Amino acid sequence: MKRTDFAIAANRVHKHYVGGTDGAGLNGFDLEVRPGSVCGLLGPNGAGKTTAIKILSTLLDFDDGQASVAGFDVRTQGRQVRQHIGLVGQYAAVDEILTGRQNLVMFGQLHHLSHRQARQRADELLDQFLLLDSGDLPVSKYSGGMRRRLDLAASLIVSPSVLFVDEPTTGLDPVGRQQVWAALRSLVDTGTTVLLTTQYLEEADQLADRISILKAGRIIAEGTPNELKTALGGDWLDIVLSLGTDASIVTSIVEQVAAGPLRMDARTNRISAPVKDRTKALVTIATALSEAQIEPEDISLRRPTLDEVFIHLTGSAEPAAVLEVTP
Ligand SMILES: Nc1ncnc2c1ncn2[C@@H]1O[C@H](COP(=O)(O)OP(=O)(O)O)[C@@H](O)[C@H]1O
Ligand SMILES: [Mg+2]
Repeated sequence: MKRTDFAIAANRVHKHYVGGTDGAGLNGFDLEVRPGSVCGLLGPNGAGKTTAIKILSTLLDFDDGQASVAGFDVRTQGRQVRQHIGLVGQYAAVDEILTGRQNLVMFGQLHHLSHRQARQRADELLDQFLLLDSGDLPVSKYSGGMRRRLDLAASLIVSPSVLFVDEPTTGLDPVGRQQVWAALRSLVDTGTTVLLTTQYLEEADQLADRISILKAGRIIAEGTPNELKTALGGDWLDIVLSLGTDASIVTSIVEQVAAGPLRMDARTNRISAPVKDRTKALVTIATALSEAQIEPEDISLRRPTLDEVFIHLTGSAEPAAVLEVTP
């Protein structure tokens, strides 16, 4: 595939913020997104997700590298790029005082639709995003999930071929999050290419065909959710401690076979660690536990969860984001 055949392509994009801290921004950012697919750009706070979205949507210039969107060069064909994209920013763009419908009509007129066309499009979008009943309420009365859906609707006034969505569910409660996911799914069915940024592994797992993991302005891993789990290699060992067991003894035993940092979940009394050689790890652990006269509740081997992949790759993850995932 040529670079311009991808709906979104970035090649070694560098962006240093004037006056910004060293390394903040993008440091050789690469991305290839096929038309009609959903790419999840996953990374902790400060990784550079918003910077990438702003650059690809022509809102921010960059220092070096190349980028194209919908087949157009982001730097030299910005106007064409803007004609083909929609952008849902991290913070709502809709007007609080206006109703949902008035907002959509206003956006439609900004896009040069006639008043009648704009009203018709507003009705379609209110229907698609399950906002018909609340269409005539001022946005100030909307819940967080409703606002995000209205934001999505506003970005789709003139069906873009590429849609950028920056952290669509940050700050929403579980119900709002589910509603926004449903809205995003219905939108993907229309064939729009979506680049979605998120700090939530579960969100990327649910919505994205492929995931790119961003750390300090650079992609450090890319693949389908399954490929990423496999790429980490090896299995994970889980030991659930019986009540009253001294966790520090078990921890030091597990450390003998662990191929990476241990994780301790105090709520479930579980110690987890990646292991390279599964048989050897099990034998070593079983022998050492038996010698220490420790009888665990459970020992098992399994494939890593996506959050473990994420922690493994990024070193440190945002705890709040990681805890979102229930294996
Ligand atoms: N206008 C700016 N000036 C200086 N530094 C910035 C600016 N915008 C973002 N940064 C820095 O660049 C890094 C990436 O920011 P951002 O792209 O917003 O990350 P994310 O969206 O992944 O949380 C952060 O360290 C942030 O502090
Ligand atoms: Mg951001």
